[in-house]
Amino acid sequence: MAAQSLKEALAETGEVIDRSFAALLTVPDDPRAPLYEAMRHAAIGGGKRLRPLLVLATADLFNVDRQAAVRVASAIEAIHVYSLIHDDLPAMDDDDVRRGKPTVHRAYGEATAILAGDCLHAFAFEWLAHPDTHPDPFVRAELVLDLARAAGPSGMAGGQAMDLAAEESGFDLAMVTRLQQMKTGALISASVEAGAILGRVPPEGRLGLRGYAHDLGLAFQIVDDLLDAEGDEATVGKKLRKDGAAGKETFLSLLGPDRARAQSAMLVDQAVRHLHAYGSEADLLRGIARFVLERDR
Ligand code: IPE
Ligand code: IPE
Ligand code: MG
Ligand code: MG
Ligand code: MG
Repeated sequence: MAAQSLKEALAETGEVIDRSFAALLTVPDDPRAPLYEAMRHAAIGGGKRLRPLLVLATADLFNVDRQAAVRVASAIEAIHVYSLIHDDLPAMDDDDVRRGKPTVHRAYGEATAILAGDCLHAFAFEWLAHPDTHPDPFVRAELVLDLARAAGPSGMAGGQAMDLAAEESGFDLAMVTRLQQMKTGALISASVEAGAILGRVPPEGRLGLRGYAHDLGLAFQIVDDLLDAEGDEATVGKKLRKDGAAGKETFLSLLGPDRARAQSAMLVDQAVRHLHAYGSEADLLRGIARFVLERDR
């Protein structure tokens, strides 16, 4: 994968993850069929697959078995997809369109959407803990531990709670940074970390990769804010202009567009510099950083 252009790598990751979900989520011939259809609706087709690509590109640095990396990439994407299903619910952002399709609660009803999210959450840990992921139970346990931390109250779900609070109280830049690190950054960091765990890199050998993921996550969210204000709904595939309407402080509202753009470029530059210990084998990770900055969806 390392020799590919970024465009090819994104397209291939999309196909690989679609196939993986199609195999992992076969629809049973019983009353749970709509639950599985709802999971497939959300998980298959669409999305940039940034987190899976980060897993695969990092795993490739350490010559990790491809099938293992795809399982782990699917597990992390399952957490992301579950978070999107719940984020779109009427109780949260109340959105009708996601990845250019009706949101899950719009297509299957709220109860099924909640349960589809619950099941993708459980599946993520089941897939990681399964012996097919890695023969060494210590590696599997570390994958589970790290993803659980990234998904829970100190990570994505905690960030979502802070995001709800941000609508009530005017957060300053330090609070917004913390919120975004949890809401968006934690899962991006877990994707890179998972590649290193699979590659059996000891924690002291992961510092450069951690720095890369940290700065990439923040840059990613600043660009999400910019796209919310300036993007094209058809291209992005979801409703935009929501942050301003909700009166929510974001990087964009606090910095303004010019400084927000400059900050995201600085962070991406810094992310790439964290990879200085790697040669051309990390070019895909460098390309992903540029993509995060230049993306229009
Ligand atoms: C959207 O994530 C939600 C955020 C964390 C900002 P993505 O922009 O990665 O969404 P998909 O996966 O491409 O649909
Ligand atoms: C949601 O953030 C991030 C998650 C953890 C699901 P947003 O509410 O800003 O994401 P979008 O803009 O709906 O994709
Ligand atoms: Mg939200
Ligand atoms: Mg939302
Ligand atoms: Mg957003």
